[in-house]
Amino acid sequence: MPAGTPAGTATPVLTWCNAVSGCVSGAEQARDRTAVDCSRMTSSAIVASGLKKAYGDKIVLDGIDLDVRAGTVFSLLGPNGAGKTTTVNVLTTLVSADSGTVRVAGHDIRSETKQVRAAIGVTGQFASVDELLSGEENLQLMADLHRLRGSAGKQVVRQLLRRFDLEQSAGKLASTYSGGMRRKLDLAMTLVGKPRIIFLDEPTTGLDPRSRRTMWTIVRELVADGMTIFLTTQYLEEADQLADRVAVLDQGRLVAEGTPDQLKRQVPGGHIRFRFADAPQLAAATRVLSGSTPDPDSLVLRVPSDGGVKSVRAALDRLDEYSVDVEEFTVHMPDLDDVFLALTGHSSTAEVSK
Ligand SMILES: Nc1ncnc2c1ncn2[C@@H]1O[C@H](COP(=O)(O)OP(=O)(O)OP(=O)(O)O)[C@@H](O)[C@H]1O
Ligand SMILES: [Mg+2]
Repeated sequence: MPAGTPAGTATPVLTWCNAVSGCVSGAEQARDRTAVDCSRMTSSAIVASGLKKAYGDKIVLDGIDLDVRAGTVFSLLGPNGAGKTTTVNVLTTLVSADSGTVRVAGHDIRSETKQVRAAIGVTGQFASVDELLSGEENLQLMADLHRLRGSAGKQVVRQLLRRFDLEQSAGKLASTYSGGMRRKLDLAMTLVGKPRIIFLDEPTTGLDPRSRRTMWTIVRELVADGMTIFLTTQYLEEADQLADRVAVLDQGRLVAEGTPDQLKRQVPGGHIRFRFADAPQLAAATRVLSGSTPDPDSLVLRVPSDGGVKSVRAALDRLDEYSVDVEEFTVHMPDLDDVFLALTGHSSTAEVSK
């Protein structure tokens, strides 16, 4: 959707911002992702301060502060009803805040709305493609709206169809597209106006793992092209894969902000769960695996782990060494629920109400 055609808890905020440069440390740069060029991170693409928004007596945003560095991926992580879409709507000028200030691409969203809209693209939570048009026609419509006339418009449409691997389906009605294709088309439509800052509201919710990975690749390519991405998600893994910084939103408040690694370090959720055939096996395993917690009722032993192959193999080898037989095991990585339990003391699915 083009930006110009719009359709608490008392938990203290944990902040790990490096206010000077916003750059990640050397160790963090070694993560399995493209390290962000620090020189591109010296200016802010989005700065929000004290954002508040209520609908009637329901407080939806309760004083949000954000600083998103240009050329980075910033992820707003939160469960249903946390206020993610409301934040996106406010930052993209679709909805006005009750109080607070926001600058996007250096412009004030209230007094310089036009300039803000010219700099941004928004792919909303629900795909806004026209189902009665083909993929190509949807893109052409966007090109027309952006006054890309004649061959210039056609060239942009062609390039985007190619880039998003939609050439084969270009002539088919969007109503026949799969969820993943629709999402891709929606994002392609957002890119027609060549925005510098892109807002993606839950771009992969409801997509299968393959389509999700395709979307992740596209996001990485956009950042490599110098764009700034503001992405909302309910998936810790997605924020971990894509984001340079993550903010956790809970009932309209930010309860944590930092790099994905900093966030995960706060979350003691990674573990292996071993199940045994009987109580003596469980007792033996508890003795040989240090730091483990047995549950005698379910004959399950919980062992802290980063979930990596080495750690799993070491635990299995040790059990083998002491002739303890394992019935089954599962590796549990921290998820949104673990984050919320660690940061807020309640689960991400706890009733959001005020
Ligand atoms: N126009 C509106 N009028 C009244 N209440 C609203 C409006 N828009 C949002 N809300 C309420 O604000 C709260 C936050 O909604 P929002 O859509 O921002 O959450 P979200 O984090 O995007 O959730 P989801 O993951 O389900 O998309 C919800 O309780 C919602 O019902
Ligand atoms: Mg939403």
